[in-house]
Amino acid sequence: MERLKDKVAIITGAANGQGAAEAKMFSENGAKVVMTDILEEELQNVANNIRGDKKSVLSLKHDVTSEKDWKHIINETKEHFGKIDILVNNAGIGSTKTIEEETIEGWEKVQKVNSNSVFIGIKYTAPEMKKSGGGSIINLSSVYGIIGVKGYSAYHASKGAIRSLSKTAAMEFAKHHIRVNSVHPGLIQTPMTESLFLDPNIVEWMQSVTPWPRLGKPEDVANGVLFLASDESSFITGTELIIDGGWTTH
Ligand SMILES: NC(=O)c1ccc[n+]([C@@H]2O[C@H](COP(=O)([O-])OP(=O)(O)OC[C@H]3O[C@@H](n4cnc5c(N)ncnc54)[C@H](O)[C@@H]3O)[C@@H](O)[C@H]2O)c1
Repeated sequence: MERLKDKVAIITGAANGQGAAEAKMFSENGAKVVMTDILEEELQNVANNIRGDKKSVLSLKHDVTSEKDWKHIINETKEHFGKIDILVNNAGIGSTKTIEEETIEGWEKVQKVNSNSVFIGIKYTAPEMKKSGGGSIINLSSVYGIIGVKGYSAYHASKGAIRSLSKTAAMEFAKHHIRVNSVHPGLIQTPMTESLFLDPNIVEWMQSVTPWPRLGKPEDVANGVLFLASDESSFITGTELIIDGGWTTH
């Protein structure tokens, strides 16, 4: 079934991990997909694999911290596909420092990439969605936007900001039929967490906090994002979808 038939979606950070899985799933479900990332070559390779002989996948270089880049992405999307129905603010970077270890520069970089980008993305995309009668915005937060874990101070703050910004955006745009939700993955095996998955002690810890008897895959998150992007979730806005194998239940 094509759950996103004729929808136009922008997915940021689509060269790797969850963004790449979301782009593939969206395309398989009939969407026209604009994949963006700072890593141009990797992005191009992923896009080529997804595209096959379809003309409905576009890949564009995009630094999500740049207002100029966002304007370019939006213009290109309109030029190629005529409208924007879905925005997945997925791009992000990790950071594993405690408050005492973190520098102001490090803190600011994480806020810029992870949460300022979500603000800019919503700010420039929502007016386009208004013109086409509505849309769905999905912002990738984390379980670390809900619970506290030692270390990761800047990351926690950036993901908490995404969680509450999503709720205020949901309130502001509901009258325009634009839904805004946040997604909160637990531990998912992607390039971001590659080094963690190589350390048996960390893997043991991850398994001990995750009741479900396996760890997460990018497709687990992509399935949730697909649901929030589709009309199946048309009365769901301002909510937070936790995809963590049960970690935050205890
Ligand atoms: N992997 C996990 O366990 C996990 C858990 C919770 C939340 N998340 C969040 O999910 C999202 C996707 O993470 P992932 O695990 O797939 O990571 P990933 O590192 O595999 O992919 C992230 C992508 O974002 C891109 N990116 C980084 N900075 C960018 C910028 N300035 N402009 C544009 N693109 C940029 C990277 O190039 C990369 O391709 C992130 O927001 C992450 O914080 C991940």
